[in-house]
Amino acid sequence: MDDLIDAAREIQTDAHVPYSEYPVGAALETEDGEVFVGCNLENANFSNSLHAEEVAIAEAVKNGHRDFSRLAVSSGRRDGVTPCGMCRQTLSEFCDGDLVVLCDEGDGDVAEYTLEELLPNTISQETLE
Ligand code: THU
Ligand code: ZN
Repeated sequence: MDDLIDAAREIQTDAHVPYSEYPVGAALETEDGEVFVGCNLENANFSNSLHAEEVAIAEAVKNGHRDFSRLAVSSGRRDGVTPCGMCRQTLSEFCDGDLVVLCDEGDGDVAEYTLEELLPNTISQETLE
């Protein structure tokens, strides 16, 4: 099993998911091999809930990182969860289209995508220039 998938699995124990009971973990690897993790943190008003990928990318960026190579995501159900549309857009703010996105399908199976595959033709800073 890939270490990055393991990290995405482990951080799920910190998820705050009293509403969905669907823990998600994300692990974001920098170009120089550091790993930043996040889990979903839900809120009673639902809309303030933070997604695992958002928490991971915030952790990495606030620690000064801007160059990323891979992201792994995993849910407690090992169902191959992929980043939602909002998270794909957030990832595209800080990661290139060739970011590798690994999705835990359980039993050692991992679906692999690029961010470009998951969100083609994204709006970006260049779009606004
Ligand atoms: N969730 C994530 O953390 N990341 C995603 O991109 C997909 C959805 C969380 C949000 C909510 O806490 C739970 O999964 C069910 O949607
Ligand atoms: Zn999301």
